[in-house]
Amino acid sequence: MSLQTSKQSFSKRALASLIGPDGYDFWAREFGTTAAWQRCFARVLCVERNGCNSLSIHLRPNKNFAGFQAGQHINVTAEIEGRRLTRSYSLSNTANSAMNLEITVRHDPQGKMSGHLHTAIKVGSVLEISQAFGGMSLPSGPECENPALLLAAGSGISPLMGLLRQRCETKTCPPTTLLYWDYDDAHFCFKDELNQLCANNPQLHVHRLTTRSAAQADGRISEEQIKQLHGDCRDTMVYACGGSDFVEAARALLSTQARDFTAEAFTPPATTANSEVQQQIAIQLNRSGRTITVSNQESLLDALEAQGIAVESGCRMGICNTCSCQKLQGSTTNQFSGEQNNATNSSIRLCISRANGPLQLDL
Ligand code: FES
Repeated sequence: MSLQTSKQSFSKRALASLIGPDGYDFWAREFGTTAAWQRCFARVLCVERNGCNSLSIHLRPNKNFAGFQAGQHINVTAEIEGRRLTRSYSLSNTANSAMNLEITVRHDPQGKMSGHLHTAIKVGSVLEISQAFGGMSLPSGPECENPALLLAAGSGISPLMGLLRQRCETKTCPPTTLLYWDYDDAHFCFKDELNQLCANNPQLHVHRLTTRSAAQADGRISEEQIKQLHGDCRDTMVYACGGSDFVEAARALLSTQARDFTAEAFTPPATTANSEVQQQIAIQLNRSGRTITVSNQESLLDALEAQGIAVESGCRMGICNTCSCQKLQGSTTNQFSGEQNNATNSSIRLCISRANGPLQLDL
Protein backbone atom coordinates (compact mmCIF):
# COMPACT_ATOMS: atom_id res chain seq x y z
CA MET A 1 0.00 0.00 0.00
CA SER A 2 1.46 3.39 -0.94
CA LEU A 3 1.94 6.06 1.73
CA GLN A 4 -0.72 8.22 0.09
CA THR A 5 -3.28 5.37 -0.04
CA SER A 6 -2.62 4.46 3.56
CA LYS A 7 -3.06 8.14 4.59
CA GLN A 8 -6.32 8.27 2.64
CA SER A 9 -7.65 5.10 4.26
CA PHE A 10 -6.57 6.41 7.69
CA SER A 11 -8.55 9.65 7.22
CA LYS A 12 -11.46 7.65 5.81
CA ARG A 13 -11.48 5.38 8.87
CA ALA A 14 -11.18 8.36 11.20
CA LEU A 15 -14.10 10.12 9.49
CA ALA A 16 -16.23 6.97 9.52
CA SER A 17 -15.55 6.50 13.23
CA LEU A 18 -16.84 10.04 13.85
CA ILE A 19 -19.99 10.00 11.74
CA GLY A 20 -20.58 6.24 11.32
CA PRO A 21 -20.60 4.26 8.04
CA ASP A 22 -24.17 5.37 7.20
CA GLY A 23 -23.27 9.03 7.74
CA TYR A 24 -20.10 8.56 5.69
CA ASP A 25 -22.09 7.09 2.79
CA PHE A 26 -24.75 9.78 3.05
CA TRP A 27 -22.13 12.51 2.61
CA ALA A 28 -20.32 10.55 -0.12
CA ARG A 29 -23.61 10.55 -2.03
CA GLU A 30 -24.22 14.26 -1.33
CA PHE A 31 -20.76 15.16 -2.64
CA GLY A 32 -21.23 13.02 -5.77
CA THR A 33 -18.32 10.72 -5.04
CA THR A 34 -18.48 6.95 -5.40
CA ALA A 35 -16.00 6.43 -2.52
CA ALA A 36 -18.60 5.07 -0.11
CA TRP A 37 -17.89 3.05 3.03
CA GLN A 38 -20.34 0.21 2.49
CA ARG A 39 -22.94 1.11 -0.13
CA CYS A 40 -22.51 0.50 -3.85
CA PHE A 41 -22.36 3.67 -5.93
CA ALA A 42 -21.56 3.76 -9.60
CA ARG A 43 -20.45 6.56 -11.91
CA VAL A 44 -21.96 6.89 -15.38
CA LEU A 45 -19.17 6.40 -17.92
CA CYS A 46 -21.16 6.65 -21.12
CA VAL A 47 -24.74 6.91 -22.31
CA GLU A 48 -25.59 5.46 -25.72
CA ARG A 49 -28.88 6.16 -27.45
CA ASN A 50 -29.84 2.97 -29.25
CA GLY A 51 -32.45 4.37 -31.59
CA CYS A 52 -35.01 1.89 -30.25
CA ASN A 53 -36.56 4.14 -27.60
CA SER A 54 -33.88 2.79 -25.26
CA LEU A 55 -30.54 3.90 -23.99
CA SER A 56 -27.62 1.88 -22.71
CA ILE A 57 -25.96 3.29 -19.61
CA HIS A 58 -22.42 2.15 -18.82
CA LEU A 59 -21.49 2.36 -15.14
CA ARG A 60 -18.28 1.99 -13.16
CA PRO A 61 -19.18 0.63 -9.70
CA ASN A 62 -17.14 1.37 -6.60
CA LYS A 63 -15.14 -1.32 -4.85
CA ASN A 64 -18.05 -2.35 -2.63
CA PHE A 65 -19.67 -4.00 -5.65
CA ALA A 66 -18.90 -7.71 -5.50
CA GLY A 67 -19.15 -8.56 -9.21
CA PHE A 68 -21.80 -10.25 -11.33
CA GLN A 69 -22.52 -12.93 -13.86
CA ALA A 70 -23.98 -12.29 -17.29
CA GLY A 71 -27.78 -12.48 -17.12
CA GLN A 72 -28.08 -11.00 -13.60
CA HIS A 73 -29.80 -7.77 -12.52
CA ILE A 74 -29.07 -4.81 -10.27
CA ASN A 75 -31.37 -2.39 -8.48
CA VAL A 76 -30.81 1.25 -9.33
CA THR A 77 -31.82 3.91 -6.79
CA ALA A 78 -32.17 7.62 -7.53
CA GLU A 79 -33.78 10.56 -5.83
CA ILE A 80 -36.64 11.77 -8.00
CA GLU A 81 -38.89 14.66 -6.94
CA GLY A 82 -37.58 14.35 -3.38
CA ARG A 83 -38.26 10.60 -3.10
CA ARG A 84 -35.83 7.71 -3.34
CA LEU A 85 -37.03 5.34 -6.05
CA THR A 86 -35.55 1.93 -6.80
CA ARG A 87 -36.08 -0.17 -9.91
CA SER A 88 -34.44 -3.37 -11.16
CA TYR A 89 -32.54 -3.48 -14.45
CA SER A 90 -30.87 -6.37 -16.21
CA LEU A 91 -27.18 -6.24 -16.96
CA SER A 92 -26.53 -6.75 -20.65
CA ASN A 93 -22.76 -7.10 -20.59
CA THR A 94 -20.46 -9.88 -19.42
CA ALA A 95 -18.30 -10.21 -16.36
CA ASN A 96 -15.21 -9.81 -18.59
CA SER A 97 -16.09 -6.19 -19.20
CA ALA A 98 -13.47 -4.76 -16.80
CA MET A 99 -16.01 -4.46 -13.97
CA ASN A 100 -18.12 -2.06 -15.96
CA LEU A 101 -21.86 -2.54 -15.93
CA GLU A 102 -24.27 -1.94 -18.80
CA ILE A 103 -27.99 -1.52 -18.33
CA THR A 104 -30.42 -0.88 -21.17
CA VAL A 105 -33.43 1.23 -20.27
CA ARG A 106 -36.52 1.50 -22.47
CA HIS A 107 -38.36 4.78 -22.07
CA ASP A 108 -41.73 4.16 -20.45
CA PRO A 109 -43.85 7.34 -20.59
CA GLN A 110 -45.47 6.33 -17.25
CA GLY A 111 -42.18 5.28 -15.61
CA LYS A 112 -40.61 7.81 -13.24
CA MET A 113 -37.26 6.04 -13.11
CA SER A 114 -36.96 5.42 -16.84
CA GLY A 115 -37.94 9.06 -17.49
CA HIS A 116 -35.28 10.20 -15.01
CA LEU A 117 -32.60 7.98 -16.53
CA HIS A 118 -33.50 9.18 -20.03
CA THR A 119 -33.53 12.88 -19.22
CA ALA A 120 -31.37 13.61 -16.18
CA ILE A 121 -28.53 11.11 -16.29
CA LYS A 122 -25.32 12.27 -17.89
CA VAL A 123 -21.72 11.14 -18.08
CA GLY A 124 -20.28 11.67 -14.58
CA SER A 125 -23.62 11.27 -12.73
CA VAL A 126 -23.59 8.93 -9.72
CA LEU A 127 -26.29 6.32 -9.10
CA GLU A 128 -26.73 4.03 -6.17
CA ILE A 129 -26.88 0.37 -7.16
CA SER A 130 -27.39 -2.93 -5.35
CA GLN A 131 -25.28 -6.05 -5.53
CA ALA A 132 -26.15 -8.21 -8.55
CA PHE A 133 -28.86 -10.82 -8.14
CA GLY A 134 -30.76 -13.38 -10.24
CA GLY A 135 -30.10 -16.90 -11.40
CA MET A 136 -30.29 -16.73 -15.19
CA SER A 137 -26.66 -17.64 -15.88
CA LEU A 138 -24.91 -19.93 -18.31
CA PRO A 139 -23.43 -23.14 -16.89
CA SER A 140 -19.68 -23.40 -16.51
CA GLY A 141 -17.49 -26.29 -17.69
CA PRO A 142 -18.25 -28.52 -20.67
CA GLU A 143 -22.02 -27.89 -20.31
CA CYS A 144 -21.58 -24.39 -21.69
CA GLU A 145 -20.93 -26.00 -25.10
CA ASN A 146 -24.53 -27.29 -25.29
CA PRO A 147 -26.75 -25.67 -27.92
CA ALA A 148 -28.71 -22.72 -26.56
CA LEU A 149 -31.98 -21.15 -27.60
CA LEU A 150 -32.48 -17.60 -26.29
CA LEU A 151 -36.04 -16.26 -26.37
CA ALA A 152 -36.37 -12.52 -25.81
CA ALA A 153 -39.47 -10.34 -25.90
CA GLY A 154 -39.05 -6.56 -25.77
CA SER A 155 -36.78 -5.51 -22.89
CA GLY A 156 -36.11 -9.21 -22.25
CA ILE A 157 -33.25 -8.79 -24.73
CA SER A 158 -31.10 -7.11 -22.02
CA PRO A 159 -30.06 -10.13 -19.89
CA LEU A 160 -30.06 -12.41 -22.94
CA MET A 161 -27.65 -10.05 -24.66
CA GLY A 162 -25.28 -10.70 -21.73
CA LEU A 163 -25.59 -14.47 -22.26
CA LEU A 164 -25.16 -14.13 -26.01
CA ARG A 165 -22.07 -11.95 -25.65
CA GLN A 166 -20.64 -14.45 -23.18
CA ARG A 167 -21.12 -17.32 -25.67
CA CYS A 168 -19.47 -15.25 -28.38
CA GLU A 169 -16.48 -14.55 -26.12
CA THR A 170 -15.46 -18.22 -26.31
CA LYS A 171 -13.09 -19.19 -29.15
CA THR A 172 -15.93 -20.71 -31.16
CA CYS A 173 -19.44 -19.67 -30.26
CA PRO A 174 -21.38 -22.92 -29.58
CA PRO A 175 -24.63 -23.39 -31.55
CA THR A 176 -26.89 -20.54 -30.44
CA THR A 177 -30.20 -19.22 -31.72
CA LEU A 178 -31.73 -15.95 -30.60
CA LEU A 179 -35.42 -15.40 -31.33
CA TYR A 180 -36.21 -11.79 -30.50
CA TRP A 181 -39.76 -10.45 -30.60
CA ASP A 182 -40.77 -6.80 -30.50
CA TYR A 183 -43.60 -4.60 -31.77
CA ASP A 184 -41.99 -3.56 -35.03
CA ASP A 185 -38.64 -2.99 -36.64
CA ALA A 186 -38.06 0.37 -34.91
CA HIS A 187 -38.13 -1.24 -31.46
CA PHE A 188 -35.28 -3.75 -31.91
CA CYS A 189 -32.10 -2.92 -29.96
CA PHE A 190 -28.48 -3.96 -30.57
CA LYS A 191 -29.15 -4.35 -34.34
CA ASP A 192 -25.63 -3.53 -35.56
CA GLU A 193 -23.94 -5.58 -32.87
CA LEU A 194 -26.15 -8.60 -33.50
CA ASN A 195 -25.42 -8.41 -37.24
CA GLN A 196 -21.71 -8.19 -36.49
CA LEU A 197 -21.80 -11.11 -34.05
CA CYS A 198 -23.62 -13.26 -36.65
CA ALA A 199 -21.03 -12.33 -39.28
CA ASN A 200 -18.22 -13.43 -36.92
CA ASN A 201 -19.86 -16.55 -35.51
CA PRO A 202 -21.22 -19.03 -38.07
CA GLN A 203 -23.06 -21.05 -35.39
CA LEU A 204 -25.02 -18.02 -34.17
CA HIS A 205 -28.44 -17.38 -35.72
CA VAL A 206 -30.55 -14.35 -34.88
CA HIS A 207 -34.17 -13.91 -35.96
CA ARG A 208 -36.11 -10.73 -35.24
CA LEU A 209 -39.84 -11.27 -35.12
CA THR A 210 -42.41 -8.50 -35.10
CA THR A 211 -45.74 -8.70 -33.33
CA ARG A 212 -47.35 -5.45 -34.55
CA SER A 213 -45.54 -4.54 -37.72
CA ALA A 214 -47.65 -2.46 -40.12
CA ALA A 215 -46.06 -4.32 -43.06
CA GLN A 216 -46.43 -7.88 -41.77
CA ALA A 217 -46.35 -9.17 -38.23
CA ASP A 218 -44.61 -12.51 -37.61
CA GLY A 219 -46.90 -13.33 -34.71
CA ARG A 220 -46.29 -14.37 -31.15
CA ILE A 221 -44.25 -17.28 -29.87
CA SER A 222 -45.52 -20.65 -31.18
CA GLU A 223 -44.37 -24.24 -31.55
CA GLU A 224 -44.25 -23.99 -35.35
CA GLN A 225 -42.08 -20.88 -35.23
CA ILE A 226 -39.60 -22.50 -32.84
CA LYS A 227 -39.47 -25.71 -34.93
CA GLN A 228 -38.95 -23.75 -38.09
CA LEU A 229 -36.30 -21.34 -36.78
CA HIS A 230 -34.44 -23.53 -34.30
CA GLY A 231 -35.60 -27.14 -34.66
CA ASP A 232 -35.72 -29.79 -31.98
CA CYS A 233 -35.07 -28.52 -28.44
CA ARG A 234 -34.23 -31.82 -26.71
CA ASP A 235 -30.49 -31.08 -26.45
CA THR A 236 -30.99 -27.38 -26.00
CA MET A 237 -30.63 -25.09 -22.99
CA VAL A 238 -33.50 -22.62 -23.29
CA TYR A 239 -33.42 -19.15 -21.70
CA ALA A 240 -36.52 -16.96 -21.92
CA CYS A 241 -37.03 -13.38 -20.76
CA GLY A 242 -39.94 -11.02 -21.39
CA GLY A 243 -43.29 -10.11 -19.91
CA SER A 244 -44.99 -12.75 -17.76
CA ASP A 245 -47.42 -13.83 -20.53
CA PHE A 246 -44.51 -14.41 -22.89
CA VAL A 247 -42.50 -16.32 -20.29
CA GLU A 248 -45.46 -18.51 -19.39
CA ALA A 249 -46.13 -19.25 -23.08
CA ALA A 250 -42.46 -20.23 -23.55
CA ARG A 251 -42.57 -22.38 -20.42
CA ALA A 252 -45.70 -24.21 -21.61
CA LEU A 253 -44.11 -24.93 -25.00
CA LEU A 254 -40.60 -25.89 -23.97
CA SER A 255 -40.01 -26.60 -20.29
CA THR A 256 -40.66 -30.33 -20.57
CA GLN A 257 -38.83 -30.97 -23.83
CA ALA A 258 -35.73 -28.77 -23.48
CA ARG A 259 -32.53 -29.97 -21.79
CA ASP A 260 -32.83 -27.06 -19.32
CA PHE A 261 -35.35 -24.28 -19.17
CA THR A 262 -34.58 -21.02 -17.35
CA ALA A 263 -36.90 -18.05 -17.47
CA GLU A 264 -37.39 -14.69 -15.89
CA ALA A 265 -40.24 -12.27 -16.39
CA PHE A 266 -39.92 -8.52 -15.97
CA THR A 267 -43.62 -8.10 -15.23
CA PRO A 268 -45.33 -9.88 -12.35
CA PRO A 269 -47.60 -12.84 -13.12
CA ALA A 270 -51.31 -12.45 -12.46
CA THR A 271 -52.00 -12.69 -8.74
CA THR A 272 -53.98 -15.68 -7.54
CA ALA A 273 -57.52 -14.67 -6.64
CA ASN A 274 -58.04 -14.20 -2.93
CA SER A 275 -61.20 -16.12 -2.18
CA GLU A 276 -61.36 -14.74 1.35
CA VAL A 277 -63.96 -12.08 2.05
CA GLN A 278 -62.34 -8.66 2.09
CA GLN A 279 -61.25 -7.82 5.61
CA GLN A 280 -59.29 -5.11 7.36
CA ILE A 281 -56.38 -6.61 9.28
CA ALA A 282 -54.26 -5.09 12.06
CA ILE A 283 -50.51 -5.05 11.43
CA GLN A 284 -48.23 -4.26 14.33
CA LEU A 285 -44.95 -2.63 13.32
CA ASN A 286 -42.70 -3.53 16.20
CA ARG A 287 -39.76 -1.23 15.64
CA SER A 288 -41.77 1.94 15.08
CA GLY A 289 -44.41 0.96 17.64
CA ARG A 290 -47.22 1.70 15.15
CA THR A 291 -50.29 -0.38 14.42
CA ILE A 292 -51.93 0.05 11.02
CA THR A 293 -54.91 -1.54 9.32
CA VAL A 294 -54.57 -3.02 5.84
CA SER A 295 -56.80 -4.98 3.47
CA ASN A 296 -56.22 -8.72 3.09
CA GLN A 297 -56.62 -8.26 -0.70
CA GLU A 298 -53.50 -6.16 -1.36
CA SER A 299 -49.77 -6.73 -1.06
CA LEU A 300 -48.21 -5.60 2.19
CA LEU A 301 -45.83 -3.36 0.24
CA ASP A 302 -48.72 -1.53 -1.47
CA ALA A 303 -50.60 -1.31 1.81
CA LEU A 304 -47.63 0.11 3.73
CA GLU A 305 -46.83 2.64 1.01
CA ALA A 306 -50.48 3.73 0.82
CA GLN A 307 -50.18 4.69 4.49
CA GLY A 308 -47.06 6.73 3.88
CA ILE A 309 -44.65 4.15 5.31
CA ALA A 310 -41.49 4.10 3.20
CA VAL A 311 -40.12 0.61 2.63
CA GLU A 312 -37.14 -0.22 0.44
CA SER A 313 -38.28 -2.00 -2.69
CA GLY A 314 -36.94 -2.82 -6.15
CA CYS A 315 -38.50 -5.28 -8.58
CA ARG A 316 -41.89 -5.40 -6.80
CA MET A 317 -42.33 -8.98 -8.00
CA GLY A 318 -40.44 -11.12 -5.52
CA ILE A 319 -37.05 -11.43 -7.25
CA CYS A 320 -34.62 -8.93 -5.78
CA ASN A 321 -35.29 -9.44 -2.06
CA THR A 322 -34.99 -5.69 -1.39
CA CYS A 323 -38.32 -5.60 0.42
CA SER A 324 -37.53 -8.62 2.66
CA CYS A 325 -38.77 -8.16 6.17
CA GLN A 326 -38.94 -10.35 9.24
CA LYS A 327 -42.46 -11.55 10.01
CA LEU A 328 -42.45 -12.03 13.76
CA GLN A 329 -45.92 -13.51 14.02
CA GLY A 330 -48.94 -14.25 11.88
CA SER A 331 -49.78 -15.80 8.54
CA THR A 332 -49.26 -14.46 5.00
CA THR A 333 -49.99 -15.74 1.49
CA ASN A 334 -47.70 -15.45 -1.52
CA GLN A 335 -50.11 -13.77 -3.91
CA PHE A 336 -48.51 -15.30 -7.02
CA SER A 337 -48.11 -18.91 -5.93
CA GLY A 338 -50.88 -19.05 -3.30
CA GLU A 339 -48.41 -20.60 -0.82
CA GLN A 340 -49.02 -19.78 2.86
CA ASN A 341 -46.35 -18.85 5.37
CA ASN A 342 -47.46 -19.50 8.95
CA ALA A 343 -44.00 -19.63 10.56
CA THR A 344 -42.99 -17.20 13.27
CA ASN A 345 -39.75 -15.29 12.80
CA SER A 346 -39.50 -15.92 9.10
CA SER A 347 -38.46 -13.66 6.27
CA ILE A 348 -41.16 -12.55 3.83
CA ARG A 349 -41.06 -10.36 0.73
CA LEU A 350 -43.57 -7.61 1.31
CA CYS A 351 -44.23 -7.02 -2.41
CA ILE A 352 -45.73 -10.48 -2.97
CA SER A 353 -47.23 -11.19 0.45
CA ARG A 354 -50.67 -10.39 1.72
CA ALA A 355 -51.92 -10.77 5.27
CA ASN A 356 -54.22 -13.63 6.26
CA GLY A 357 -54.77 -12.32 9.78
CA PRO A 358 -53.14 -10.05 12.38
CA LEU A 359 -49.39 -9.72 11.83
CA GLN A 360 -46.34 -8.48 13.64
CA LEU A 361 -43.56 -7.19 11.40
CA ASP A 362 -40.04 -6.09 12.28
CA LEU A 363 -40.55 -2.61 10.83
S1 FES B 1 -39.21 -5.51 -4.24
FE1 FES B 1 -37.98 -7.10 -5.10
S2 FES B 1 -38.53 -8.81 -3.89
FE2 FES B 1 -39.90 -7.28 -3.22
